[in-house]
Formats: sequence, C-alpha cells, structure tokens
Amino acid sequence: MISRYSFGKPFETEALVVKIEATEGKLPFFRTDGEGNYYYDFDDKDIVYGLGEQIRGINKRGWTYTSWNLDNPHHHEDTHSLYGAHNFLLVDGKELFGVFFDFPGKITFDIGYTKRNEMHVYADRNDMNVYIITGDNKKDIVNQFRVAIGQSYLAPFWAFGYGQSKWGYITEDDVRRVAEEYAKLGTPLDSIYLDIDYMQDFKDFTVNPERFSDLKKLAESMKEQGIHLVPIIDAGVKIEDGYDVYEEGVANNYFCKNEEGKDFVGAVWPGKVHFPDFLQPEARSWFGEKYGELTKLGIDGFWNDMNEPAIFYSEESLSEAIDAVASLKGKNIGLSEYFSTMGTIQGLSSNPKYYDQFYHNVNGQMVRHSDIHNLFGMNMTRAANEALCKLEPEKRTLFFSRASFIGAHRYGGIWQGDNLSWWSHILQGMQQLPALNMAGFIYIGSDTGGFGADTTEDLMLRWIQFALFTPLFRNHSALGTREQELYQFDSCKAMTEMVKIRYALIPYLYSEYLKAVINNDMMFKPLSFEFDDEESKCVEDQLLIGNELMIAPIYKQNASGRYVYLPEDMMLIRMRKYDDYETEQMTKGHHYIKVALDELVFFVRKDKAIPFAKPAKSTSELDLNSLGRLGYEGAKYEMYMDDGINPDVSATLKRVEI
Ligand code: GLC
Repeated sequence: MISRYSFGKPFETEALVVKIEATEGKLPFFRTDGEGNYYYDFDDKDIVYGLGEQIRGINKRGWTYTSWNLDNPHHHEDTHSLYGAHNFLLVDGKELFGVFFDFPGKITFDIGYTKRNEMHVYADRNDMNVYIITGDNKKDIVNQFRVAIGQSYLAPFWAFGYGQSKWGYITEDDVRRVAEEYAKLGTPLDSIYLDIDYMQDFKDFTVNPERFSDLKKLAESMKEQGIHLVPIIDAGVKIEDGYDVYEEGVANNYFCKNEEGKDFVGAVWPGKVHFPDFLQPEARSWFGEKYGELTKLGIDGFWNDMNEPAIFYSEESLSEAIDAVASLKGKNIGLSEYFSTMGTIQGLSSNPKYYDQFYHNVNGQMVRHSDIHNLFGMNMTRAANEALCKLEPEKRTLFFSRASFIGAHRYGGIWQGDNLSWWSHILQGMQQLPALNMAGFIYIGSDTGGFGADTTEDLMLRWIQFALFTPLFRNHSALGTREQELYQFDSCKAMTEMVKIRYALIPYLYSEYLKAVINNDMMFKPLSFEFDDEESKCVEDQLLIGNELMIAPIYKQNASGRYVYLPEDMMLIRMRKYDDYETEQMTKGHHYIKVALDELVFFVRKDKAIPFAKPAKSTSELDLNSLGRLGYEGAKYEMYMDDGINPDVSATLKRVEI
C-alpha cells in the first residue's frame, strides 16, 4: 500500500505517474517537527537500502548523503553527492517499509552518521510529498513503488552490445581505426561513442566539418559493420552570434533567466553558455527536435551530459577569482592567503551559489533553480526522448544521461559518471546497481576500465568480468589517460573472449532486462531480497542477476580468488571462452574460489538454467533461434524476447520456454 503525506506546498516533480490522494493522518514510522526534519530510530540490525546512485555500500547506514545533482568526479568515500537524486529508501528490520521523499531541491539523509541509531532526513524547505510504502516483503514494496513511478525506459536490443568510447577520438579516422582494430582482433562491437570532440567548438547539434567531413557517410559505413555511432549532447548552449540554437533560444525565451530577467550565463566546455529551461514544455520540444538533425544523419543513440547542470564558473565568480589572484601580485603571501586564494579557484566549479542566481519559467511563475535543481537533467532527457518518440515513432532510440531524478527512468538510462580506474570502483559501481533498480533505472552501467586515471591490464580484465553483466557495457575513459581500447593490451585475446561471453549471455541478460522493465521488477538484487538468512543480509559484494544467476566479481589487484557465500546450493561456471568451460556443483555455505585472471566465474542458482547463444560480431548477427543452455539438467527457463526495435514492447513480445 502506498500513502502520500503532504507538507507545505510541494512542487509537482512528475516523479509519479499515478495520482495518490494525500492522507490526513500522521506520518507513520517517522517523528517530524513540521519544519522539514524527519527522524527514524533504528534497531542495531536494521538495514537501509536505496538512494540510487550514491557512494558506499548496499546498506546505507553510517554516512550522510545529500541529493544534490553534482558534476563530481570524486566518487570517494567522503563524498556526499553524485549526479543523481534518488530519494527512495527501503528500511528492513524492526519495521519494513519504503519511503520516497518527493522533493526537487537539496535534501540530506543522515543515516546513522550523527547518531548511530537514528536516521535524520532534512531539506531546505518543508514543501514535499512523502510516500510511505508497505508490503509483504522487500520485492513487493519496490514493485509497488515502481508501478507508481511508471514503466522504465526501454533500450534497443543493439544497446546490449559492447561499446567503445574515449574522450579524445578527434577525427573520423580515429573512429574508423577503432572499428578496424576491433575487427582485426575479432572482438564483437556494437557502438562507438563520440565525445565532445566531434562538435564544432563544443556547440550542440553541430559537427566539425574538418574533422568529421561527412558524419552521415561515416554513420552508414559503421552501420554496415554493425556499429552504431552514439554522440554526446551537453546541456549548455554556446553563446555565439549566428549559431541557430543560441539565436532561437534567445528569441523565444527558452533559456533560464537571471534575477534581472536576462539570459543567465554560465561556462562549460564551449566557454560561455545559456542553459535551456527544460522545465518549459515549449523549450523541451524545441531542444528535443534538434536531436532530429543528428538522427537524419543516421544516428540512433545519444548520451546527455553536463546536465546537473555542471557550471565551471560564472562571469562574476571568475572575475572575482582573477582579482583575488591579481591582488597577490608582488606580495609576500602567507599560508592563509595562499590557501584562501586556492580555495576561491577550486570553489569556482559548480559552486552552489550559481544555482541561486537563475530561474525557470514554470507556468508563468519564476522558480529559483536551486529549489528544483534536481529536476534539470531529467527534463533534458525527457526533451530528447519525447521528441524522438514523435520524430522516429517506429523505433527505439538509445538515451542515457548523467544527471537524473526519479522519473528520469522513464526517458532513458544512466551511466554512473566519472569514476576512476581504481579497484574500489568496480565494487562501488556494483553496489549502486540494486539501488538504481529500486529507483526505476534498469539500463545502467559504469565506465568499464575506469574513466579518470590510468587503468592497468589486470584491472581492465577484472572490470570486464563484472561489467559484462550490466545492460550498458561501455569502455570509456578521459582525455589524457592511458589508452584502454582492448587492443592496447597484451591480454587483448583474453579480453575478447570475455566480450564474446557477454554476447553469449545477451539472450539471458536482455530477457531479464525486459522482465525487470515490464514487470516493474529488479534485475540486480542483493542476496537478502531472495534469501532470509542472517548472512545473506550482510553480503555487500555479490549480486543476484535476474532470477537465475549470482555474481561475485573480483575487485582486488593480484587476487587469485575470493571468498564467496552461497545462500543455497548452486552451480559454479568457470569460463575461459564461451565454448571452453567447466561446471561444478557447490553446496550452500562459504567457499574460497580460485579465479585466474583470464577466467570468468559465476553461479547458476539451484534448479535453474539460462539460455546461451553462440557469440557474433554484433547483436544484429546473434542467432536467437538456436540457443544452448547452461545450468541444471531439466530446469526450465522462461525467456522474454521481442524485436528489440518497436517502442511498444507488447507488439512483438514473446515468452518462450527454454
Ligand atoms: C564529462 C563526462 C565524461 C566525458 C567528458 C567530456 O566529464 O562525464 O563522460 O567524457 O565530460 O565530454
């Protein structure tokens, strides 16, 4: 059962697709003071799940998390905010309930940080809807919440293939070389991503004609090889006379305004930009239709970036910082002056004060950005998705975004942002998955190999062995970091075998993805969502994938194996190649499992089996009609399949028993 408790004057975030009448009674479970403070008392063993894309563990107890969409490449343990705001929590212990704080501004969740056995939730203002969800068990609560927030975005089938990306593919030759090298190596590949380098001076919906002389032709020749080009689109629109997007936005008042009613100026990659007012429906359809200029060239996927929105500096703050530095000239500066000046410079990027300085036009009312900050990125992806549904109604377009709010899951997936090539970030990325599923995000994945910092060969291999289970499986890295296309490494053959195993698993992964979308279910679950024993509740580094598999990835350098907890008897699968593997019946309990660097180990749950395909060079060549099986003899699997193209999934959905 879902009940809504309304406080003050909540802003309509559109997170929910159903209207639930407000309940008059007292908010259950929490103590409130009527001023935006909510308290819950824990028992020692209570577990808190949720919060989507937040750092730390599956159990959120012991830290403070703030929903404030932030361009934050520091996914470190002491971080409080990343790119998404997913205010859904599930408390399991002396009580079992879900709670969604439907609030579009800054809201903080102190989950046993200040006081170990107390949760304290507080927001800037007490204008919010709080939804309490009770049910039979954790899955039931998540399911009810997911029904209320609406069906998740459906990605095209091809988006389950392997993708190669790099900030720094400067020319079309760079792109062609990636395709050639992978073809030579025999690595399956379905997409190559275009980062900001393809644009003319980082202007959205433009293509640099010197470096990409004919994008249409390039897209065509890639398609012939089964490869989709996926360009990035940034939120900020460059201020430049003669640039149509800028001029149209100004002429129609489609940009966010400052206090004086002028178009607000921030700075991102292109230099000075205006930000489209994605909260205005007209601005959304205008910006969304611009994506059509690229789909006309054969593009059918996009990643939306910098849409928190990221602001490197404002004109005013930059000039203050320059003055501060200039004032030191010729002085013998002391430590405090040095640190304060450094602080001024470092504080330029995404400074919270910028978000107080601009406004959205919501039905004629000017609404301060910081009051609805967390809705911006969602409405950018909504703009793109809604426009493409009109422009290309017969097929699915790939969308994923960096910034998001609950509700954004209806318009696209997300990637988990600028992680680092750190071992701990394999685990971090994995721990976010179930919480993202609770918030409706199913098409998800992190930058495989790590975005910032230099990767290593063994990290790449281990990361692939985890990421090959995630819907979005993309190798992406930052400008200036070590080149990490698989052909750059001595172990490229072993890596290729892993990618082939991914393709062999696609029938299963895609089927479980469809089930999660259609049935409002989770694709990635903590063990405790299926098993009641005390040990399952504590497992933070294993996940269930769909209903049949369990994974226990290796996320430590030089580890030749790891401890794995089996909550029931399972079948271990040890694979070096898709057609070179061993199976072993394992009993419930703790085991130490050896895993060589070139091996993939995963587990099939008791009395279950999964479909298994012969890999192909791209998803378009996968033969789904002659599938093999892996797992227990005699077990049946219900496979969901569709044409992977039609946006109306029910039109081509088939459920076949395998
Ligand atoms: C941001 C994105 C990253 C991208 C870079 C350049 O940092 O998160 O994925 O490569 O911008 O566009």
